[in-house]
Amino acid sequence: MPLGNALLELTASSEQILFEEAQEFEAFLNYLWESYSFDFTGYKRPSLMRRVQQRMEVIAIASYSDYINYLKKSPEEATLLFESLPVNCTAFFRDQQVWDEIATEIIPQIIANKSSDELIKVWSAGCATGEEAYTLALLLIEALGVEQFKQRVKIYATDFSQEAVYQARQGSYSRNQVAGIPPDLLAKYFEQIDQRYSFRQDLRRPIIFTQHNLLQDAPISKVDLLVCRNTLIYFNLEGQLRALVRLHFGLKDSGFLVLGRSEAPTASTGSTLFSLVNQQQRIFAKVPKACTPRLFLKAFHQQKYNLPAQGVHSVTSLPPNRPAGCQYESTSVREPAAVLQMV
Ligand SMILES: C[S@@+](CC[C@H](N)C(=O)[O-])C[C@H]1O[C@@H](n2cnc3c(N)ncnc32)[C@H](O)[C@@H]1O
Repeated sequence: MPLGNALLELTASSEQILFEEAQEFEAFLNYLWESYSFDFTGYKRPSLMRRVQQRMEVIAIASYSDYINYLKKSPEEATLLFESLPVNCTAFFRDQQVWDEIATEIIPQIIANKSSDELIKVWSAGCATGEEAYTLALLLIEALGVEQFKQRVKIYATDFSQEAVYQARQGSYSRNQVAGIPPDLLAKYFEQIDQRYSFRQDLRRPIIFTQHNLLQDAPISKVDLLVCRNTLIYFNLEGQLRALVRLHFGLKDSGFLVLGRSEAPTASTGSTLFSLVNQQQRIFAKVPKACTPRLFLKAFHQQKYNLPAQGVHSVTSLPPNRPAGCQYESTSVREPAAVLQMV
């Protein structure tokens, strides 16, 4: 066979293999949805595939269908798989300039637009092991003073990873981890116990850590400042739109959204939902009423589950084999109608 033809045949067959692998992976994601109500369809495929394959390598399994059989036989594997999928890297005052801007421009505006006894509601979405939430707390304590902080502030800090949320609640960090905290703030608001630094117990009550899936769960509502950094980056366009619609919904009309350095709403993920406040620091303001019913439907209507466009779709049975501690309310299935009523 001439070399050109042989090369063409080789390319065609490797394309076929890739296509088949992609199809098998989609079937695997469907299995996760059907069996655990975990919806990974909103994630970028290459990194998700890599992480699933890393788990498969650990237990020496080569195909997705064998992995499904293994999951059926070993319920604890699902917990290990779900905990291995997200990337938890984070830091106190990560990207210092953003926090300078939040401290000098955004927090003062939020405080100025409220009466002196009004609640300030903040949400750190995708908070990983808590550094971002405690960073927000430090800035708010400095702006308001300790007593006002305790009385007026609620910081909701949420993450998909149960393990990350557990660590965040401990509020205890190594010397390396606290390196980004300015020394005066570290001295005032952390207690050193042996080699670890703990966020002061008396300041913890306003910070509520909870497990929450940005792609599936109902958002926290009436939020003044929503920080969701370096999380959308893991979602594909559909996932970003679904998350941004939820974030838009969670914000007060006067609320601010802070995204990560390389994140921004685009034409296909909801640029009409937010106006730009600071391009460089990725700070946005909510555009009230920008979320049209069409956009809601686009974000929530999931063709693959054959959901009708309207009506409440009740889930009659919860999936079996649920790994410990994960949330399984299928809010994504219920939400389209509930959200539409609010438009
Ligand atoms: C790279 S960390 C970002 C942490 C922090 N926001 C920061 O910028 O330093 C991304 C976090 O997003 C979380 N995450 C991934 N998918 C999520 C989802 N669907 N819902 C909520 N959190 C998610 C991961 O568990 C991880 O902790």
